[in-house]
Amino acid sequence: MPAGGGVSRGDSTRTVHAGLPEAAPQGAPFLPGPTFAAPVHWAGDAAPEGYGRNANPTWAAYEAALGELEGGHALAFASGMAAASAILLPALRPGDAVVVPADGYYTVRALAREHLAPRGVEVREVPTRLDALVAAADGAALVWAESPSNPGLGVLDLPALAAACHDAGAALAVDATLATPLRIRPLEAGADWAMGSATKALTGHGDLLLGYVATRDEQRLAAARTWRTSTGAIPGAFEAWLAHRSLATLAVRLERAEANASALAEALRGADGVRDVRWPGMGPVLVFTLPDAAAAQRFLAACELVAEATSFGGVHSSAERRARWGSDDVPDGLVRFSAGIEDAEDLVADVLRALSAALGRE
Ligand SMILES: Cc1ncc(COP(=O)(O)O)c(C=O)c1O
Repeated sequence: MPAGGGVSRGDSTRTVHAGLPEAAPQGAPFLPGPTFAAPVHWAGDAAPEGYGRNANPTWAAYEAALGELEGGHALAFASGMAAASAILLPALRPGDAVVVPADGYYTVRALAREHLAPRGVEVREVPTRLDALVAAADGAALVWAESPSNPGLGVLDLPALAAACHDAGAALAVDATLATPLRIRPLEAGADWAMGSATKALTGHGDLLLGYVATRDEQRLAAARTWRTSTGAIPGAFEAWLAHRSLATLAVRLERAEANASALAEALRGADGVRDVRWPGMGPVLVFTLPDAAAAQRFLAACELVAEATSFGGVHSSAERRARWGSDDVPDGLVRFSAGIEDAEDLVADVLRALSAALGRE
């Protein structure tokens, strides 16, 4: 089942066929099963394929799929943070400067503060806005951007950002986890790295932790591969296989989640007591602000279809009061909501009912 080299195809076609073998023997499954091996039989001269921390055919198939979707070469990692670390840590040396989003995923900021700054790397935290990032890129070795940012939901003009970073001599890495490669492909926009947490919508069932990087640059790819092998930040074969299987439904899951997110945003925009409703027009995540922390907690407790949980991008709707982590500069009553793939009418009705209960209008 070749993926159709050179032919431009739709999202569902691409996700269903991504990474499947071009020629399969009679009787073979569409997606080959996982290969569980630490050592494999490997006689004669040594080669990386001889040991399971270096290489695994199940990762290779999944990475081929990710590479097709991102438009580059991909490497899978044990989590999104393992993938982020594989870009950030080997790239930066004492005396370098790195730009990270002030309104993006906080663990990346924490990693920069706790592990890069003490090694002499200047860490510049700036909001997800083109002008701010471009100004900060001057003299930086690497700009790390998120689009849309989490939880700020800022969306960037990536071709403009990539051009400005390169003019300034900085490399650009973009985390487009919220959008998935079906909506934003950083490498096509000129970024040097694309990175994603596959824990979220990419795999979409709330049962996996995985991440990946993608690049078109062979040297960068080799550096990330060496980092993965040295640190052992590898995915398990079964997780990689489940992720590859889950990719097949990405386009339909995302379309449904986006339709739900859009319907919720519209319903919430007209609701009393709700302010600053934001949905970036792509991806499953929206945010809105209730009067205070207590109202947000009452809302979350009153929802029947929406699990109070962190993370996003799963088939089940979930939400949390983001300020509970104490790590993001957001109002106490801000709810980060991840639309699942339930029926829109049910979801909107549940959310509006929970809102009335939370705001004392029931
Ligand atoms: C935008 C973004 N990037 C990266 C990560 C890290 O991913 P993981 O939890 O798979 O390590 C997250 C996790 O929430 C995220 O939201």
